[in-house]
Amino acid sequence: PIIFAITPTYYRLEQKAELTRICQTFRLVKYLFWILVEDSLDKTSLVRNLLKNCKIPYAHLNALTPPKFKNIPGNTKFPRGVAQRNEALDWIRTNVNPKETQGVVYFADDDNAYDVRIFEEMRYTNVVSVWPVGLLGHKFESPIVKTGKVVGWIFVWGAHRPFPIDMASFSFNVQLLFLHQEAAFNYTAQQSMQESIILMGLNVTMSDLEPKANNCTEILVWHTRTQRTILGHQPKHPANFSVDLEV
Ligand code: UGA
Ligand code: MN
Repeated sequence: PIIFAITPTYYRLEQKAELTRICQTFRLVKYLFWILVEDSLDKTSLVRNLLKNCKIPYAHLNALTPPKFKNIPGNTKFPRGVAQRNEALDWIRTNVNPKETQGVVYFADDDNAYDVRIFEEMRYTNVVSVWPVGLLGHKFESPIVKTGKVVGWIFVWGAHRPFPIDMASFSFNVQLLFLHQEAAFNYTAQQSMQESIILMGLNVTMSDLEPKANNCTEILVWHTRTQRTILGHQPKHPANFSVDLEV
């Protein structure tokens, strides 16, 4: 089975470093198809060049977050990645033939840290696979597994959520997208509800969940964040030496 890895991405100083890191990880994974969706009006040359150099199969898409749903730091908490992930789901529905394709879908944000073993764990998924994720305001979050079945969750907050899990902690069989054509993320639900929204849209129940990572006892993915760079004064170059590098 092939892994469709869906990554929303947006411009900030650290973008190229983040995408380089995730690309290097993906290069170690066989049969992975990267759907990279820019949060932008147009596709950028930075991302186009990065994908060209990455040497893995990919689709380069873009979908701008509607301005009214763009977060103002410290002020609003709209869910991120909504328009971009939906664009990717539609791309799969349009371009993948479900009769000829065995595969799984995974939402791989551009800033997390992935052990390549997680991709082999998720690759064989009948309906939905789940596993622990490191950090997240705590040491980790995890499904609770008893005799091979998921019976509950270890999480820090948001008990009202039907699936109190992070985007990085599950994958699903690509066939579900074709059985549930309307399944999508949306801006009307809260930030923390996005995982539950898509899983409910795919008609997933607790009994469908397949615990991975040695019955959810291993952490193979971490919800990490790169610190924002605060630019200082521009260094002075010698008068006859001019540089303008794309960072
Ligand atoms: C948490 C979850 O881990 C995300 O999967 C979820 O989308 C997010 O909350 C949310 O619902 O807001 P967090 O680390 O807080 O993630 O979010 P980011 O990593 O900043 O953003 C998630 C993804 O969306 C990233 O791949 C990021 O590049 C992308 N993004 C972020 C955009 O495409 N546009 C933006 O304006 C911001
Ligand atoms: Mn993140």
